[in-house]
Amino acid sequence: MNSLENIVQQAREDFAGAPDPAALENAKARYLGKTGQITEQMKGLGKLAPDERKRQGALINAAKEQIESALNAARDALSDAQMQARLSAEAIDVTLPGRGRGVGGIHPVMRSWQRVEQIFGSIGFDVADGPEIENDWTNFTALNSPENHPARSMQDTFYIADNDTLGKPLLLRTHTSPMQVRYARMHQPPIKVIAPGRTYRVDSDATHSPMFHQVEGLWIDENISFADLKGVYLNFVRAFFETDDLQVRFRPSYFPFTEPSAEIDIAFGSGPLKGRWLEVSGAGQVHPTVIRNMGLDPERYIGFAFGSGLERLTMLRYGINDLRLFYEGDLRFLKQFN
Ligand code: PHE
Repeated sequence: MNSLENIVQQAREDFAGAPDPAALENAKARYLGKTGQITEQMKGLGKLAPDERKRQGALINAAKEQIESALNAARDALSDAQMQARLSAEAIDVTLPGRGRGVGGIHPVMRSWQRVEQIFGSIGFDVADGPEIENDWTNFTALNSPENHPARSMQDTFYIADNDTLGKPLLLRTHTSPMQVRYARMHQPPIKVIAPGRTYRVDSDATHSPMFHQVEGLWIDENISFADLKGVYLNFVRAFFETDDLQVRFRPSYFPFTEPSAEIDIAFGSGPLKGRWLEVSGAGQVHPTVIRNMGLDPERYIGFAFGSGLERLTMLRYGINDLRLFYEGDLRFLKQFN
C-alpha cells in the first residue's frame, strides 16, 4: 500500500527535522499516538476480510517497526548532540592559571606584638608565653593582692565553673603579671623576660574591651633599679614609635605588686599628638612579697616590672581613636595595615 510507504517516509523526515526532544515526541504522537496515522491504520483493519486483514496487518506492523527504528535513531542523534553541546559548554581549560587564594594580612595588634618581641629581643629579653586561664593564687594572691583586698576590685574578671587545686574558681587572667611569678619560679636570676598575651576584664567601651592584649616586662637581678626601668622603657618607646623626639614621664601610682609604683606616660615632640602626655604602661619596682613568691630572697634580688597595653601602643602608633575597630574584622580597616 502506497500510503503506508508515504507515512513511513513522512515520519522519517519529521523525526530527522525535530530540533529537540520535545518536538520529536510531538512528531512521534502524530504517527504512533492514540490518534496517530499508524494507529488509525490499525483501527481500519477490523473492516477487512480475514485474509486481507492478515496481509494488511503485517504491512502495518512492518511500517510501524520502521517508524519506531527511525524514532530511536532520531532520539539517539538528539541526545548525542545534547551531550556534545554540554561537553563543549562545560569544558575546563586546564591551561588557565589558578584563581589563587587571598593572602591574609597581619592584624595591627599582632604587628605591635611582633615589634615588641623584636625590640626587647634585641636587648636580651627572653619571650615567654603563659596560660590565659589562671588560678586565683597566681593572678592575685602571689602578686600581693590577698583575698578581699580592695585592689582586686580594679580587676574584675570572668570566672570559670571549674576550681583549681586549692578549691578556688579558675579565672581568665586580668593581666600578664602572673607571668612574672610563673617565669621567675622556673628560671634563675638574672631574669629578663617579656610576656605578651591576651588578658580579660569585665569592661567594654570605646577604650576598653573585655579581651585585650598586654605585654609584661620583668628584669630581676641583684642590682636592677628604677633607673634601669627608665632607660629600658625609654629605649623601647623610641624604637617602637621610631622617633627619638619623645619623652617619658613616671607618674606615682599604686599597684599591689610593685613598690614604688608608677604610670608611664609618653609625649611626642611633634606630630598630631605633640606635647600631650599619654599613658602607656603601669610599672614599678617588684614588691618584696612578690620576690618571695617567686621563690627568691628579697634581701638579695630586686628589679622592675611593667605591663603595657598592646592596643594602646598600637592606637598611638597609627592614630586610631576607637579600640573597637580592632575587633570588628572590617577589612576596610584591617587592609590599611598590610
Ligand atoms: N598588671 C598591671 C595592670 O594590668 C600593670 C603593671 C604591670 C603594673 C607590672 C606594674 C607592674 O594594670
